[in-house]
Formats: sequence, C-alpha cells, structure tokens
Amino acid sequence: MHTRRPAARPARAAAEPAAQRLPRPRRAARTLLIRALQRRQTTRAFSARKLSAETLSELLWAAFGVNRPRGPLGGVGRTAASASNSQEIDVYVALADGTYRYDALAHRLELVVPGDLRALAIGRRQSKTDPGAGAPVRLIYVADLDRLVHTRGVQEPGLRDPDMQRAYSCVDIGLIAANVYLFAAATGLGAWFHNCDRERLAARLALRAEQRVLFAQTVGHPQRRFRGGPP
Ligand SMILES: Cc1cc2nc3c(=O)[nH]c(=O)nc-3n(C[C@H](O)[C@H](O)[C@H](O)COP(=O)(O)O)c2cc1C
Repeated sequence: MHTRRPAARPARAAAEPAAQRLPRPRRAARTLLIRALQRRQTTRAFSARKLSAETLSELLWAAFGVNRPRGPLGGVGRTAASASNSQEIDVYVALADGTYRYDALAHRLELVVPGDLRALAIGRRQSKTDPGAGAPVRLIYVADLDRLVHTRGVQEPGLRDPDMQRAYSCVDIGLIAANVYLFAAATGLGAWFHNCDRERLAARLALRAEQRVLFAQTVGHPQRRFRGGPP
C-alpha cells in the first residue's frame, strides 16, 4: 500500500534567526532589582530630613564605590563602568555644612569648601522655584578630562577628542546616576537628576581647567503627600 509522506516544511533561510518565546519573568519579578526598577522615577519634592551617615555611605558606594580591588586595565573596579576604566568622574557631595569630594578608594568624604552650595547645584532656569531646595544632599558630577587623556587603559584617539571626551563623560555620569536612581528606589529615597549652575560651581569649587561640572542629582527623603484632613 502506498502511504503519503507528510509535506516537507519549507527550509528556513540560513540567515533567518529562529524566533524564541521567552518565559514570563515571574521569579525575577520578586527580586529586589526588579522591584527597584519598577519603582525607579524622578522625585522633585523632598523633606529636609537628613540622611543618616550609614545611608549616605551606602548611597556613595552604590553610586561609584570600589566593588573589587582588581578591575580592568590595572585600576580598581567600580560600581559603574567608565571609558577605558579611566574613572574620570568625581562625585562632589553638597551638604548643608559644606561640599565634599567622595574619595572612593578610601571611602571617605574630603572637604572641598565649607558652606552651603546646594542652591547652585540646580540649573538657573529652575533655581527660583527649586522644589528640591531643602533636600539634604546634592551630588555634583565633575569630569576630569586629564584622566581620560592620561588613562592607564587603552590609548584610543577618542580619549583626546573633545567631542568624544564629552560623550564619554556624559555616558559615565549617566551610569553613576542610574545607580543612584536604583539605590534610591530600593531604599525608599527620592532622586532627581538635573542641570546645575556650571560656571558658578566651577568657581566655588576652585576646579582646574581640565575639570568640567556637568550635571547634578538631588537625593533625600521624598516629601509625604498631604492626604486630606488636618495634619
Ligand atoms: C540628561 C538629563 C538632564 C535632565 N535635566 C533635568 C533638569 O534640568 N531639570 C529637571 O527637572 N529634570 C531634569 N531631568 C529629569 C528628566 O526630566 C526626567 O528623568 C524625565 O522627565 C523622566 O522622568 P522619570 O525620571 O520620572 O522617568 C534630566 C534628565 C536627564 C537624563
């Protein structure tokens, strides 16, 4: 008896990628990281409540701390990537009593200038109505172009090109700022990435010509919403 063979499937073109269904990320949805990603957002209204020393310490470590003694290209490893591991971004920390530089290797704050510079760590356009004016912490991101030029890492031409230097610095700041957003989301804090008064900050922080103030980020306890009725 003659039996009919099933029709052959059309051969898939060699270059065509096979589609694959992905399982729903149910288990991952319970992880802290996914929860922090779900909560990540910009908060612009803060209470004046200070951060504890422990929280400030964890925040700075999460932002751009040392997470391994031996990173790539002869430097330590940090919680955020940087171009050629140049680690050219310095995190300045504006508090009510002074502005400090975060020394990640020693994990401590070095006083740069006493006094309150938080009001300069917001763009001029927003400074009059600044809703974050009372927030306890403003991080100021400063790129040191000298560290890109004199990197220990791969000497590629982009490290000396002004356009690429700006691109690298902005990307590297973005990676740090994303850590701060996630740390805030995971710990119930608020965070707000924004512009700042670059010229006045550069003058007050007495920066060198190769240092560029680029952005800032406010962190603090979010202001509780008024839910009706007398407080
Ligand atoms: C490069 C950059 C610059 C920003 N500058 C400001 C700013 O000057 N003022 C401001 O209020 N928000 C600023 N933001 C915050 C954005 O407005 C905010 O992230 C955006 O509206 C999305 O909101 P979300 O963070 O809650 O998702 C900036 C964000 C980025 C990435």
